[in-house]
Amino acid sequence: MKKTLLNTLLSSLILYTSVSLAADAIKPNVTILATGGTIAGSSKSNLDTTDYKAGSLDINVLINAVPEINDVAIVKGEQISNTISGNISSEILLNLSKRVNHLLNEGKQQGVVITHGTDTIEETAFFLELTTQNKQPIVIVGAMRPATAISADGPMNLLESVVLAADKKAENRGVMVVLNDRIGSAFYTTKANSTTPDAFKSYEPGYLGVFVSGKPKFYYTPAQPVDRTFFDVSKVDKLPNVEIIYAYQDQTPTMLHAAINNGAKGIIVAGSGNGNVSSNMEEAIKQLSDKGIPVVMATRTGSGYVSSKSFAIGSGFLNPQKSRILLQLALATGANLKQISNYFDSQR
Ligand code: SIN
Repeated sequence: MKKTLLNTLLSSLILYTSVSLAADAIKPNVTILATGGTIAGSSKSNLDTTDYKAGSLDINVLINAVPEINDVAIVKGEQISNTISGNISSEILLNLSKRVNHLLNEGKQQGVVITHGTDTIEETAFFLELTTQNKQPIVIVGAMRPATAISADGPMNLLESVVLAADKKAENRGVMVVLNDRIGSAFYTTKANSTTPDAFKSYEPGYLGVFVSGKPKFYYTPAQPVDRTFFDVSKVDKLPNVEIIYAYQDQTPTMLHAAINNGAKGIIVAGSGNGNVSSNMEEAIKQLSDKGIPVVMATRTGSGYVSSKSFAIGSGFLNPQKSRILLQLALATGANLKQISNYFDSQR
């Protein structure tokens, strides 16, 4: 009798184990690559949303705080860095891109999620957009409130980003940025507010989709930004120094000369309006262009198109920080002035 009971218990255990193994076998794999930021931030006060320490919690702490993630995918966390996003160096960017490419080329992951500080998330997102070309979803996510805050946005953002990375409907859409229930294209999304949870905007092109009760709803069939360029960085181990100079009334070229004298290999100008500057600046920029030093005119307005000038390259739809990433990649892969101009032209 005892033996029969034991046999029944053992069979049930075997059945349970095989059912849960079978359930796991049909769940997609998603790897989360963590870099730091407010999503991994903590503070002594749950009311503190400005003076907390960003990049202080390990990725496994973030995953364990959202057990629902395990119903969606088989999730593995890897810590690439744990820092505020202002510290994301060209070395971290290159490591991250190489790791994403490796994971997706291996073919075992349905998608990859990157956790990141929101301050410069758009730069890393754009860098990944230009250095990957897999169909699987690459989702980059942050939070505006630290993990310790009342109504922290990180846990839901993380869950939604894993749901998106695990979803085949999210394939062939380029790198996507997830915050505040919105899905944005890495090409166009930008941080447009310093503190509020709805900080991320995609002004002219709009969002790709929205989450409803944690499920992604897309507005369009899969689409890629027009003329998205691909740069193979598998053999690149450093990005050149490119400085951004902010334009203002009656500006002298002091900062421009300082940047070049300190080793900048290219300059982005956050010009006024359609990439305009004072006559003094224009003359100095022309001299640099004549020497073969690339200068790209972007706009400080926050959105819109910048056309090419007689004295410099126009950034098209790219804002200054994204123009810097494109120029760094162009220089790192050996482009000359004409090719650089074509890369920016192809953004139109
Ligand atoms: C950061 O960018 O690392 C800090 C700010 C944030 O993540 O919201």
